[in-house]
Amino acid sequence: MQDQIIKILKEAGGYISGQEISNSLGVSRTAVWKNINNLRGEGYVVDSVTNKGYKLVSCPDIVCKDELVSHLRTNLLGRKLVFLDSTGSTNEYAKDLGMDGEPEGTVVIARDQTAGKGRLGRRWVTKKDEGVWFSILLRPKLTPTGISGITPIAGLAVCSALNRLYGMESQIKWPNDVISGNKKLCGILTELSAEMDAIQFAVLGIGINCDTESFPGEIAHKATSVYLETGKKINKSQLIAEILNTLEEELIQTNYKMTPFKVKEYTSHCASIGKAVTFHRGNKQVNGIAVAVNPKCELVVMLNDGTTHNVSAGEVSVQDIY
Ligand code: BTN
Repeated sequence: MQDQIIKILKEAGGYISGQEISNSLGVSRTAVWKNINNLRGEGYVVDSVTNKGYKLVSCPDIVCKDELVSHLRTNLLGRKLVFLDSTGSTNEYAKDLGMDGEPEGTVVIARDQTAGKGRLGRRWVTKKDEGVWFSILLRPKLTPTGISGITPIAGLAVCSALNRLYGMESQIKWPNDVISGNKKLCGILTELSAEMDAIQFAVLGIGINCDTESFPGEIAHKATSVYLETGKKINKSQLIAEILNTLEEELIQTNYKMTPFKVKEYTSHCASIGKAVTFHRGNKQVNGIAVAVNPKCELVVMLNDGTTHNVSAGEVSVQDIY
């Protein structure tokens, strides 16, 4: 009921009487009062004035369940939410839930991670409450190759949520770093438990730097946050909900398909295209210009000898981007 009360208070904009809230929810005024007190315990500031009622003054700045649910428009993603104060890695936690048979769409959110995982065996370092760190448990009825669109589509979902909510312009450094001002804002790590012809489950992990005001010297030139790009400390619960809303439409309802339209959208967001790039083929370093992204979401690179090469995995360094 708390998420419904948050919605009512937000829609009211100003004061709304306890009676009106109790009428619209069909519960007693005492129940309204108790739930508002619980919300205060979660960090909501709710003003109450005799004869005027309640007014929502501010929402908590940490990720919290009622706030997230109040923004959710999904049928599947986030219908089961696991909130953790701290865990090693939300991806690892979600993988354990996947093994235990937990339902598709379960989302694990942590305020902090002590062993966050990045791509290619790297670490993903987080600071408590400075960003959103969450993982989604998915059970696509597809083969591993059938979900090659999952990470690019997730990258696009992050870009569009950031744009809709904060008017931010962000791009994607192939394959799936979301960047702003040529610095990394968000990382995405997809992990699979699968056989050759069937996926048992997939875990889609997303980490976005939100409130960080400065990064340590060694990464200051390559990392950024929503705050550094916009000057705003954002509602992190709303950001997660918006990404889940978008992913449900663009990933689940389209059955993970990288449609020609999505390839076009990805191409227009891909900051690697048109730039000098470097990658490794075996032990050899190869240089070229990234010219396109193909329907498999591989990066098409024109090599210095005029031939093209499709890069499907690994690291591709891009000139001028960290
Ligand atoms: C990368 O850019 O290398 C991927 C980083 C992915 C980080 C997220 S944070 C939530 C989830 N849990 C993890 O341990 N990793 C992902």
